[in-house]
Amino acid sequence: KILILDFGSQVTQLIARRIREAHVFCEVHPCDVTDEWLRAYARDGSLKGIILSGSHASVYEDTTDKAPKAVFELGIPVLGICYGMQAMAHQLGGVVQGGHKREFGHADVQAHGHTRLLDGIQDYVSEGQSMLQVWMSHGDKVTELPHGFTLMASTPSCPIAGMADETRHFYGVQFHPEVTHTKRGAAILERFVLDICNTRPDWIMGDYITEAVAKIRAQVGTDEVILGLSGGVDSSVAAALIHRAIGDQLTCVFVDHGLLRLNEGDMVMDMFVGKLHAKVVRVDAEAQFLGHLAGVAEPEAKRKIIGREFVEVFKAEAAKLRADQSRHVEWLAQGTIYPDVIESGGGKGKKAVTIKSHHNVGGLPEQLGLKLLEPLRELFKDEVRELGVALGLPFHMVYRHPFPGPGLGVRILGEVKKEYADLLRRADAIFIEELRNFIDEESGKSWYDLTSQAFTVFLPVKSVGVMGDGRTYDYVVALRAVQTSDFMTADWAELPYALLKKVSGRIINEVRGINRVTYDVSSKPPATIEWE
Ligand code: XMP
Repeated sequence: KILILDFGSQVTQLIARRIREAHVFCEVHPCDVTDEWLRAYARDGSLKGIILSGSHASVYEDTTDKAPKAVFELGIPVLGICYGMQAMAHQLGGVVQGGHKREFGHADVQAHGHTRLLDGIQDYVSEGQSMLQVWMSHGDKVTELPHGFTLMASTPSCPIAGMADETRHFYGVQFHPEVTHTKRGAAILERFVLDICNTRPDWIMGDYITEAVAKIRAQVGTDEVILGLSGGVDSSVAAALIHRAIGDQLTCVFVDHGLLRLNEGDMVMDMFVGKLHAKVVRVDAEAQFLGHLAGVAEPEAKRKIIGREFVEVFKAEAAKLRADQSRHVEWLAQGTIYPDVIESGGGKGKKAVTIKSHHNVGGLPEQLGLKLLEPLRELFKDEVRELGVALGLPFHMVYRHPFPGPGLGVRILGEVKKEYADLLRRADAIFIEELRNFIDEESGKSWYDLTSQAFTVFLPVKSVGVMGDGRTYDYVVALRAVQTSDFMTADWAELPYALLKKVSGRIINEVRGINRVTYDVSSKPPATIEWE
């Protein structure tokens, strides 16, 4: 295995991710672990290499973190990245100077000589030298190599951009090989873990499950855990994983707020109770939610009500479970994933208490007096999906478009009414079904897979139409489909006219009460993806 010591950089988990992609097992621990801990960790011989991450700090401030001395005494390879390289240089007798202008962005690094780490890895050759296109982000820099090291790489503004001690297998790079802007970064990390550390690329998601299961069991012991299951990817995968670990010690609470998609509640129950045999309490809270939403048209007010009622319902269910003294309900599980941790500013050592914005609630674990169990905290979205499939969740569930916590509540413009929700659910189901059925010939993919998010919006206005011999005066819906990689910006999808025609024809014919379908051709920004 590989140990990553985290000095608090926002991209530390990306190092872990790249190593998992190379099919090698790794663990991230805070940089302030003790020498004793590290020696014990390495004792069985399975530790093959250590990576020191970047940080926002400067090594020359006394208060900042150093690597445990044992890192350099175990006789195993070490790679320092950015701050990690500076810490290595500083601790091994080199010089690091601060106060330089911050260098941030793309840089072209020249490799010096043949080192095992960089040999044969290059983007292009300039004047006979191997060049790498990398991503830099640092203020301080190493200005004098520690004893035993040779220069491995440089840039005009950073003369020591890489250093190597090939005898001890210590390497340092000032740039960030873990980010994709460093084009050959993955190759460099692979070279380190596979060739220099001599690990075997035999780790797979199935192993992750075994390890995660053992960790969850050790963490909760004989206690019981409750989890808010929404049917979304993250909470579903968390539920499946925790259920795999502790079976009936897990109780899922599935709050049906009446703003879910067509048949969604039944599908969730089918999957978790029918197939996984998990304990799920389904709370039918439609009347409660719609009651509180009656007469409220303002989007943020609607969100607040939905978030608040969610907490109320969840608390009441938790209280019922905890009333049974014999059950020791001590944990609240959440499907927090790594991007949520970063967003909430949680880094090294800080226990970032993240409530998924999903439910738009804060402070739930404190209010309930429960400890948090977050088994997906280190994973990125696509890894969570892969894990879900490995846990046996159906592909179509795991690769679903995102669905907002407030559900149809933000897709019915203005006041929410059951009548509107029922019409919208049916129209939306038709749109999604046709997107899944319509295959793009060029790519062989369905338009559902070619779009990042697609849904129907209910407009509470009426327009005139004709049907048979009669005049109709019915509601309007808008179809929305976007393509995006990060949901921060998005383009409206250029759906084929034939697909739009099919969808609009079906909605108008099959959903009595809707007589007009429009297509939203606004990009984000300036529009948002949702309409509210
Ligand atoms: P916008 O509309 O802001 O949406 O462009 C960006 C992404 O966030 C989702 N979204 C939400 N998710 N609770 C959520 O859990 C919310 O209140 C919420 N509002 C928007 C939206 O579906 C899109 O994927």
